[in-house]
Amino acid sequence: TTSALQFLRRGQAVTLHDVPPDRTLLEVLREDLGCTGTKEGCAEGDCGACTVVIAEAVATPAGEQLRYSAINSCIRLAHSVQGLALWTVEDLVRDPLITREDPASTVHPAQAAMVSCHGSQCGFCTPGFVMSLFGMYQNRVCQGQPITRELAQHDLSGNLCRCTGYRPILDAAEQMAQ
Ligand code: FES
Ligand code: FES
Repeated sequence: TTSALQFLRRGQAVTLHDVPPDRTLLEVLREDLGCTGTKEGCAEGDCGACTVVIAEAVATPAGEQLRYSAINSCIRLAHSVQGLALWTVEDLVRDPLITREDPASTVHPAQAAMVSCHGSQCGFCTPGFVMSLFGMYQNRVCQGQPITRELAQHDLSGNLCRCTGYRPILDAAEQMAQ
């Protein structure tokens, strides 16, 4: 059996019909929507190459707020994002939901920090790192929280690089909060 899947992307509702219940979010993104910026590395939830960000509204003492989560799309069933807002690396351009954005820039602060810290390495791990940074920015920097080295290591612990290193990426995490 198949059923329709709906989620929010770039402020618009996306509706996909006939999405099989066992189809992963990564398969839907890459194969059905042609969003190949999201990579498949391990396909087992270990490497973070497939990281995308979802957001859901949660009640807080200060009112309803969006809570962002970086998730591994390779091990998420597509239907698990039903009704949520979703960002892939292709979406990190000017976006009214993104605050504290430099009006002169066309990229998200997470991307700008990766560029200036030389944190962009290979095309497999980088989109995943950028999405984890994006989630960290939206959840922490937009709430006025400083990014420490330890916090950056924690939030990026699901993203693996098998060839170069992490220092410039951790630098980028700290820089985007400054
Ligand atoms: Fe490695 Fe998804 S492809 S965690
Ligand atoms: Fe991408 Fe190491 S896996 S630079």
